[in-house]
Amino acid sequence: NASSLGLIVLSFFLGSIPFAYLVGRLRGIDIRQHGSGNVGATNAFRVLGAGFGALTLILDAGKGALAAWLGLANGETMAVIAGLAAILGHTFSPFMRFKGGKGVASAAGVVLLLVPDVTLICLLAFGLAVFLTKYVSVGSLTAAALLPLLMFFLDKPLPYQLFALVTALFVIYRHNSNIRRLLAGTENPITRKQHK
Ligand code: G3P
Repeated sequence: NASSLGLIVLSFFLGSIPFAYLVGRLRGIDIRQHGSGNVGATNAFRVLGAGFGALTLILDAGKGALAAWLGLANGETMAVIAGLAAILGHTFSPFMRFKGGKGVASAAGVVLLLVPDVTLICLLAFGLAVFLTKYVSVGSLTAAALLPLLMFFLDKPLPYQLFALVTALFVIYRHNSNIRRLLAGTENPITRKQHK
């Protein structure tokens, strides 16, 4: 119906707000020209420092959580559809010529609101992987792979399981350039060093 469609459109536009780019602009930096070039919290952290990186992370996760929260008023299925719309808005932002980030922080916001226990386990795995490898992409890929497995084995509602599977595949697909760099040994660490 019309209100569901309105919610999906609203969530998409909410997700499409390019916070990494906007936070970079505060410092007079076009984030697309630095670090990995990605419009995401990781690259904000890498290029702009920990404070601005954390700010970007909170804003990007917040928009995902907000979309899911708005959807949840109409049930679990609507919550994940709104969440997915926000993630797609983030990755294909009309404000960034339909480019954008990789959807990790926005997806984290969605799942944090809907399934905090699963999200916490994913966060721990993410943190451990980043700590061990110094590559955020390895953490993101680890958490993405874990997400649908946890949803399934912890018996979460079916819409959440399906959302997790779709989101995991999408996030992994969005990391194709990272995977190529990891295999070539040229992946960008969290510190400043540039490979596009
Ligand atoms: O969340 C994105 C992260 O996994 C990789 O970011 O900038 O290193 O490509 P980046």
